[in-house]
Amino acid sequence: VQQSSQLKEEILRLKKEKDVVILAHNYQIPDVQDVADFTGDSLGLSRQAATVDQKTILFCGVNFMAETAAIISPDKKVLLPDLEAGCSLSDSITVAELRNWKKQHPDAIAVGYVNTTAEIKAELDYCCTSSNAVNVVKAIPEEKEILFLPDMFLGSYVAKMTGRKNMHIWAGECHVHAGITPEDVNEKLNSMKDTEFVIHPECSCTTPMMYDVADGSYDGKKVSILSTEGMLNHVHQSKAKNFVVATETGILYKMRQQNPGKTFIPASEKAECQYMKMITLEKVYDALVNEKNVITVPKEIADKARLAINRMLEIS
Ligand code: 13P
Ligand code: SF4
Repeated sequence: VQQSSQLKEEILRLKKEKDVVILAHNYQIPDVQDVADFTGDSLGLSRQAATVDQKTILFCGVNFMAETAAIISPDKKVLLPDLEAGCSLSDSITVAELRNWKKQHPDAIAVGYVNTTAEIKAELDYCCTSSNAVNVVKAIPEEKEILFLPDMFLGSYVAKMTGRKNMHIWAGECHVHAGITPEDVNEKLNSMKDTEFVIHPECSCTTPMMYDVADGSYDGKKVSILSTEGMLNHVHQSKAKNFVVATETGILYKMRQQNPGKTFIPASEKAECQYMKMITLEKVYDALVNEKNVITVPKEIADKARLAINRMLEIS
């Protein structure tokens, strides 16, 4: 404990001295969230990356997030403490597969989740995140076919919420969220009497059998489908005292910290993203001291990808 608090102090001192801003995703380990200037969801962190004054961003998250920051702010240096921090969802579609899909639907509008590589984003018309996917799709004229990628659960949720019949959905998934099963959810919901249920739209338990969009309930429990930051806001404002939370367990740290009188239980304790957990205090320190692991995106790709990201930022 003493070692980690010393390391934290040293990181806080160094980031000030070097004028570095630390951004951390809501799934990061508590120690890393503690040293961050801003924590948030993918959309919030992209907005921070676009507006912070510091010339160097130390991004505590996974590769596609750091890449997005580098695309939005090409004049800033973006550091990722571990270059191996990837994402199974962003790996679920290749550029060749996307080009081929687009060829089969030449008039379709390609909408891609932020959980994609820069090369994929360069092929998109619109980017979206879990907090604005519904609004992005609503902004596209009804008669236009849509290719939605790569997450099938987010895609089917968006199709349901918008009533869109002309959306083709790629069959990708995040292994962490897809791994939270209806059995996990039922067991946890039955274990507490008065409970709300909050779900990330990447979960397989967002499939239509699991909830009724019309009344926002499942098995008599209030259900809210939200991004990670949306979840944090919702549980803070809600009058409910107990919550079952279906997403990566890193979110529980802030939930519990911000709401001491409330109880939060994960839908599945196994829902841990090994990529997010690769970022440790030691690696943050190392990246900060040596200004290493710089994320760069070739200009040609970044310029194209930025169009899709900016279209999203204008809508949401
Ligand atoms: P949010 O944008 O809701 O934080 O989703 C993040 C995610 O899937 C990162 O893995
Ligand atoms: Fe990717 Fe899933 Fe990990 Fe998020 S939780 S970074 S979507 S693998």
